[in-house]
Amino acid sequence: MSALSQPATSQRHPLSVAVIGAGMAGRTHANAWRQVGTVFGSEGIPPIRLAAICDSYEPFARSARDSYGYERAVTDWHDIVDADDIDVVSVVVSNALHRQVAEDLVRAGKHVLCEKPLSDSLENARAMAELEANSQVVTGVGFSYRRHPSVAAIAELVRQGRLGDVTTFSGRYWCGYGVDPTVPMAWRYRGPQGSGALGDLGSHIIDVAEFVCGPIRSVRGGAFATIIDKRPPALEGVAGGRGMTVSAQAIETVENDDIAVFNMTFESGAIGTIVVSRVAFGLPNSMEFDVFGTQGRASFDLARSGEIIVDDTSTPEGFSGPRQVLSNPTFPYYKGGSSMDFAGVGSTQIEQFTYQARAFLDQVLGLDEGFPLVPSFAHGYRTMCIADAVARSAAAGGKTIDLT
Ligand SMILES: NC(=O)c1ccc[n+]([C@@H]2O[C@H](COP(=O)([O-])OP(=O)(O)OC[C@H]3O[C@@H](n4cnc5c(N)ncnc54)[C@H](O)[C@@H]3O)[C@@H](O)[C@H]2O)c1
Repeated sequence: MSALSQPATSQRHPLSVAVIGAGMAGRTHANAWRQVGTVFGSEGIPPIRLAAICDSYEPFARSARDSYGYERAVTDWHDIVDADDIDVVSVVVSNALHRQVAEDLVRAGKHVLCEKPLSDSLENARAMAELEANSQVVTGVGFSYRRHPSVAAIAELVRQGRLGDVTTFSGRYWCGYGVDPTVPMAWRYRGPQGSGALGDLGSHIIDVAEFVCGPIRSVRGGAFATIIDKRPPALEGVAGGRGMTVSAQAIETVENDDIAVFNMTFESGAIGTIVVSRVAFGLPNSMEFDVFGTQGRASFDLARSGEIIVDDTSTPEGFSGPRQVLSNPTFPYYKGGSSMDFAGVGSTQIEQFTYQARAFLDQVLGLDEGFPLVPSFAHGYRTMCIADAVARSAAAGGKTIDLT
C-alpha cells in the first residue's frame, strides 16, 4: 500500500448513526457510537458517521451535538425517520415513546437499538416484538449490564459450572434519584404500578438474573410501595429524572412504584429475590447481586466494578474464603475493550454501552467477532412479561404467577 492510499475501511460507505433523546442515557449512546470503532480492532468496521442527535428540548440536542461531535441537532424525531442518510438509530427517549418512534424507524428501513424497558405497556411491547418478527432490519434492546466485563465473567463462571449447581440469586438495584420530594414530576413517575422502579431499575436486574441463572419460571411475593406520592411539575427539560426548573405552586400525583420486591424460581430450580428502589437514601446508583451455587459464590457491586468477589472449592484447606478478583483480560470484553486493558484498570457502566453498540454494529454488518447478540425486542417483551407477572402477584397479595 502506498503512503497516500486509503485503508480499505475508509473506502467503504460510512455507516451513519443517529441518537433520539439527548438526556442522561441518550448522551451515553452518543458517546458509545463515537467510541465504537476504537475498541476490539477496527477490521471490517467502516467509518462511523455521527450524523444527528434529536431532542425535543433544543438546548439538550445542541449540547449533545457539540459535546459528542455529531453533525446536526434536530428537535423532531420524524426528521431522523425521513433522513435518507441515516442507517442506525438509538432510541433513548421515555418508555411511552419507544413504540411509536421504533415503528416509524423500522418501517423507514433503519436498524434500531431501543432502550430498556422495551416499552411502557405489555401491549406496546408485544406490538414491537411482532414488528421485529416481520422486519428485515436489525432490532435490539439495551440491556447493557450484560456487557459489563465483571457481570459477564460471573455469568461465564456459572455456565462453566465453577460454582456447582446454582441455588440462589439475590439482586438489588438501589437508587436515590427520587428520594428528594422536590425532584419534579417526569415520565419515570407516570404509568401503572410496576412501571416505576420495577420498570426502570428492575428491568436491568431481571435481565441480569436471567443472563446469569437462566430463565425465570415463576414469581411470587410481589409488593410495591410509593413513598413520595406528590411531586411538583418541571417547567423545562428533564434529564435522568432531574428537572431543570420546578414550579412550587402546582403539584402532580406520582402514579407508580418507588420500591418493588419479589421472589422468583428459575427453570433450574434455583430460587432468588429482587429488591429495587428509586428512593434509596444515599445510594445514587447501587446495583449489586450475589449468586450462590453448591460449590461456590460470586458477587458483583457496581460501586466496585473493577472486581468481583469469588469463593469456591479451589483454595487449599484452611485458606478458604471469599477473594477479590480484579477484572483482567480473561474477563469477557476486557481485552481490546479499552486503551488500557491490563488487569486492575477496571471498567465502568459507560464502557458497557460502547460494547453494546459494537455488538449491535456487528449484527448490522453481519460480522462475527464472538460477541453475544444484542437481546431482541422479543426478549425485551419477555422481560416486561416478568415485570407484569410481579405486578399481578402484588395485586393478588403476593400470589405465585407462572410464566410458562
Ligand atoms: N441502559 C441503561 O443503563 C439506561 C440508563 C438510563 C436510562 N435508560 C433508558 O433510556 C431511556 C431514556 O432515559 P433517560 O434517563 O435518558 O431519560 P431523560 O429524561 O434523561 O431523557 C429523555 C430525553 O428525551 C427527550 N424527549 C422527550 N420527548 C421527546 C420527543 N418527543 N422527541 C425527542 N426527544 C424527546 C427529553 O427532552 C429528554 O432529554 C429510557 O427508556 C430509560 O429507561 C437506560
